[in-house]
Amino acid sequence: MIRPARSFQGSVTLPGDKSISHRYAMLAGLAEGTTRLSNFSTGADPHSSLACMEALGAKVVHAADKTIEITGTAGVFQQPTAPLDCGNSGSTMRMLTGLIAPHPHTFTLIGDHSLTLRPMERIRKPLGQMGARIELADGHAPIKIQGEPLHAIDFDTPIPSAQVKTAVLFAGLQASGTTSLTESVRTRDHSEHALRTFGATLNRSGEKLSIPGGQRLKAIDATVPGDLSSAAFFLCAALLFPDSHLILDSIGMNPTRASLLDVITALGGKIKVLNVEEHHGELIGTIQVNGPASGPRGMHIGGTLSAQIIDELPVLAAIAPYTRDGISIRDAKELRVKESDRIALVAKNLRAMGAEFTEFEDGLEIPGNQQLHGAQIDSGADHRIAMAFSIAALRATGDTEIQGAEAAAISFPEFFTHLDALCKR
Ligand code: S3P
Repeated sequence: MIRPARSFQGSVTLPGDKSISHRYAMLAGLAEGTTRLSNFSTGADPHSSLACMEALGAKVVHAADKTIEITGTAGVFQQPTAPLDCGNSGSTMRMLTGLIAPHPHTFTLIGDHSLTLRPMERIRKPLGQMGARIELADGHAPIKIQGEPLHAIDFDTPIPSAQVKTAVLFAGLQASGTTSLTESVRTRDHSEHALRTFGATLNRSGEKLSIPGGQRLKAIDATVPGDLSSAAFFLCAALLFPDSHLILDSIGMNPTRASLLDVITALGGKIKVLNVEEHHGELIGTIQVNGPASGPRGMHIGGTLSAQIIDELPVLAAIAPYTRDGISIRDAKELRVKESDRIALVAKNLRAMGAEFTEFEDGLEIPGNQQLHGAQIDSGADHRIAMAFSIAALRATGDTEIQGAEAAAISFPEFFTHLDALCKR
């Protein structure tokens, strides 16, 4: 149950970035030696990746100081004794398929109901071109893999997807020859940084990435930066209160993720970056945000920007009615194949709170200057929907009940505790 708030103030340190945690877990499992990771994501999704790496022969130890130690398999995965359970995590399923396809075993990858509805042909196709033997059930999980040696390809990604890019890079790392890949839109580049950190060679020439095959990885020591996509909920909350003041510590500011900060600024948020450092190719900084004195402005989000902030679109849509000029989101049809059909669920929940808007196949147009009322929200078991509407609830009249709120634990188990501490009532 979320009660409206009067203001939003405080400082938070966010759990480790989900995307980076997945990649470090998987590469640590493949590498030789013991990787030590601090601030690993507390979300259930990266823990699905960790559990899969254990099933493949990596040793995972949760040390008392909250560090996670992963002793890798030195490039030799074992035959798992059961299907690899990816839970709710598309990242686990897609990236892991590329990582394990060259290993001489049979693998089955399964997931929960939501994951079983998500499209997997997008990875089967390029990996199949590399020689991987992958069987899907009508384009979906369960994924069955008969491991085979792979060969390099030259691949143009038809859909902007960091998960597909990563599946191909992880396979290319272990294939014969040099795999190259050109992206239609430059997506998050955590895999490129992570691969280099674990000792791999990877080249970029213009828009073309290439990775020589037959490479070995070495363990690392690293701290995972705070998750900017989790911070997005609080950044959007800060926009809703003229006197808000928020400090986010040690947050990931990778430029391929940080367009969100431009959006927050365009909506009127006053952002100060207090310091920035680079660790293993990833930028980490402390951000201070103040809300706009005269309320959030509106904007249009489309084109490549939609792909770059795809995970943040639900919360931006949820606060759109409170903006002055509204927010329109287009070119975002990928939202329909995330953990849920996020366009349909945002529409359903905006409607429940009394908002007017127009739904399109690839987005939503949401006029501003609307007052929402408390309602029953259907999270659809989707973490980002549960959190997005918890933020919309802060400025509604009356209380809002989030049904399926526990879904937040997929990426951000501490969300409601932090939200409570930041809200002044
Ligand atoms: C992710 C990439 C995005 C994003 C997901 C995490 C990643 O998915 O939505 O939450 O870690 O690479 P796509 O690559 O399918 O767009």
